[in-house]
Amino acid sequence: MQATATDKLLIFDTTLRDGEQAPGCSMTFKEKLRVAALLAELRVDVIEAGFPAASPGDLDAVRAVATEIDGPVICGLARCNASDIEHAWEALRPAARQRLHLFLATSPIHRKYKLTMNKEQVLNRLVESINLARKYFDDVEFSPEDASRTEPEFLAEVIEAAIEAGANTVNIPDTVGFAVPNEFAKLLRYLNEHVPNIDQAVLSVHCHDDLGLAVANSLAAIQAGARQVECTVNGIGERAGNCSLEEIVMALKTRQDAFDCDTGIDTTRLYPASRLVASVTGLHVQRNKAIVGENAFSHEAGIHQHGMLKHHSTYEIMRPEHVGIPKTSLVLGKHSGRHAVRDRISELGFEIDDEELNRVFSEFKQLADRKKDILDADIEALVLNNESGHAGPWQLIELNTSSGTGRSASAVVRLAHTDGKVYEETAVGHGPVEAACRAIESMTGVAPTLRKYDVRNVTVGEDAQGDVTLIVEYNGREYHGHGLNTDVIQASASAFLQTVNRISLRLQSKKTPQPIAAQA
Ligand code: KIV
Ligand code: ZN
Repeated sequence: MQATATDKLLIFDTTLRDGEQAPGCSMTFKEKLRVAALLAELRVDVIEAGFPAASPGDLDAVRAVATEIDGPVICGLARCNASDIEHAWEALRPAARQRLHLFLATSPIHRKYKLTMNKEQVLNRLVESINLARKYFDDVEFSPEDASRTEPEFLAEVIEAAIEAGANTVNIPDTVGFAVPNEFAKLLRYLNEHVPNIDQAVLSVHCHDDLGLAVANSLAAIQAGARQVECTVNGIGERAGNCSLEEIVMALKTRQDAFDCDTGIDTTRLYPASRLVASVTGLHVQRNKAIVGENAFSHEAGIHQHGMLKHHSTYEIMRPEHVGIPKTSLVLGKHSGRHAVRDRISELGFEIDDEELNRVFSEFKQLADRKKDILDADIEALVLNNESGHAGPWQLIELNTSSGTGRSASAVVRLAHTDGKVYEETAVGHGPVEAACRAIESMTGVAPTLRKYDVRNVTVGEDAQGDVTLIVEYNGREYHGHGLNTDVIQASASAFLQTVNRISLRLQSKKTPQPIAAQA
């Protein structure tokens, strides 16, 4: 396929499916809808909302996205079997435009060890499944999993059969991140030359980042004719992750001369999308991450600063405002009113409703009592922190701790439960955070194992807010929690309670504790 200057590159976002598969990255139903709404604002072409057959919760989340999100095509993943296809149809049918993404492994390693199927059986299975899928869906994508380690001749046969059976998009996954750019481009060119009906489908790629090459491989594939890229916000995904959406989009925008195609993405929504995904998954973006990292547009060296003062093009190939990074950091304080806060929130790229503004404004006022200058990063943290402890049965009402050199710490924690009662517990620990967590565990009956505990300051200064992210393990599954407060012990307790809430929601079963009155 010969690229033209007008070619559009389709952005297929899989943050809610492959991204959510990453350890500790699971999102709640509400968080998935929030991310999906921002993906629609970004104007991605396709949202892969999940894997409906994986669990009833996944099916419900995909159905909610299909029902509530307008604009992009809503897609669901399915294995090549009737039950998965039917589950996907049940979840996706409310969407204005829906797509089924079917996959079946084709590489010799997967055929031998995972599927125990020969080539003919693989071909038959995928053709039967696409035939069945087309009875429900007009738009079907097929992925030969581990394509980059599949014999090219067999891969060409598979792609031809998939298109013949009715697949409108054929996706070439580098499932294990094994490919290198020139070799991956060669594979795409080979398919373009050896699959006679290739012009009847969109050629797509899906690259993993095990060797740090997911974006490079995707760009090489575009130069070789791919017209859809599968990617995730912040590059999250299985293991080392997927191709990063913001990097691929900005590479195409900045170097259109090298790629001859562009996306329909509203790049000013890239930074808010990155911040939201980092916040709901607990996976922070490294400072030096391209496009959305904290350092991506800061110039330290004197010689660079001098050049920037003369003209930004000396050391900047993109403008921060083009990716949605706010221009100036405005300082707000205790006298700032609701309007000023609302205006700043929208200048920072967030759209929130009145109910949400009420919450943020009330937390802003509380913060302003403890902190003189409220900076953009503080406002952003308040907006993103909208689930602290509330998404679940428990809410933190009060925490008092005491600790000192050479003695153990104690904590008294008060929690409200959705049963309408308030519970209180005292516990001791090596430090106040441990004591608070022990008290929460004994009240809720949920005692997960702490795997990661991370405290960051949102801004600088002694009165900076502490942003706590932690990952716990419970019944073999990882959950993350996030807490924000100028008091890092409070922030830690909120983050821990959030993991307990996530676990409780999942289990829907908990110990019935005694309310304060009954304990007395
Ligand atoms: O990495 C992969 O192969 C996948 C497929 C389901 C497309 O995620
Ligand atoms: Zn993948």
